Amino acid sequence: MDNRGERTGPRYRLDHGQETPYQTITVHKLTPAVGAEIGGVDISQPIGNHQMTEIHRALAENQAIFFRDQNLSIEQHLAFGHKFGEIQVHPFAPHSAGHPEVMKVHADQDSSFVAGDETWHSDMSFESEPPMGSILQIKICPPQGGDTLFASMYAAYDALSARMKTYLDGLTAVHDGAQVQRELYGTTKASYPRAEHPVVRTHPVTGRKALYVNRSFTRRINGISIAESDGILSFLFTHMENPTFQCRFRWRPNSVAFWDNRCVQHRALWDYWPGTRSGFRVTVRGEKPV
Ligand code: SIN
Repeated sequence: MDNRGERTGPRYRLDHGQETPYQTITVHKLTPAVGAEIGGVDISQPIGNHQMTEIHRALAENQAIFFRDQNLSIEQHLAFGHKFGEIQVHPFAPHSAGHPEVMKVHADQDSSFVAGDETWHSDMSFESEPPMGSILQIKICPPQGGDTLFASMYAAYDALSARMKTYLDGLTAVHDGAQVQRELYGTTKASYPRAEHPVVRTHPVTGRKALYVNRSFTRRINGISIAESDGILSFLFTHMENPTFQCRFRWRPNSVAFWDNRCVQHRALWDYWPGTRSGFRVTVRGEKPV
């Protein structure tokens, strides 16, 4: 006899939907929630319309997509990014020599911190129009470690109770880049980028709702007391980190990861010191979250 009442299966149940086969690329999901490895395409070369449509679809369906053995030059990396929109320059991270629009991601035995290591985040959410996506190629990998974790903010939102969804509806929160810039990059400026965004945003392509607060940049929820904001943010940050919503990407030299910041958070692991990990990131402009 089933004595579990109305509910069957885990509380955090993901909706897998019905999938139409792809024709020009292969798509292998890393987990049901997020991430897929894409094959059958050389992203350094011009890409036909049908294949581009399928890459867009794979990103929309999987939120983070991964390509192996690409070996992009800086120019090819930028050209691939341009296929998805304008390139957004990072306001303070180091960049490739002569290419301010290409962010350098590098750590070795002399590093004192690693970009994206300390906390889960959505890139540059402190901007009023934060990036739609980030495209990272790692050229040099440590012998072990240096994986990146991705978490689906659709899955995190879907798993909230109906009561919590109602509570969060219409709330906005402040995102601030000051702390990360001061503490990690040692910058001292008169002002730092800061923006207000909905706590739950609607993805402009899929129409799905996603949680849009993150540990690195979200400082407080507007219109409620500091104590209540701290409590709700603390709950949401812990809730989002449920491994059910995640995948873990293991890099090889010349792998490329492309994640959609509108529905995914990520965290880079710095478990390989004193090893070296090195690559470049191109960031694609997004829109004001609604
Ligand atoms: C980042 O946050 O862009 C860095 C991600 C990584 O190095 O894996």
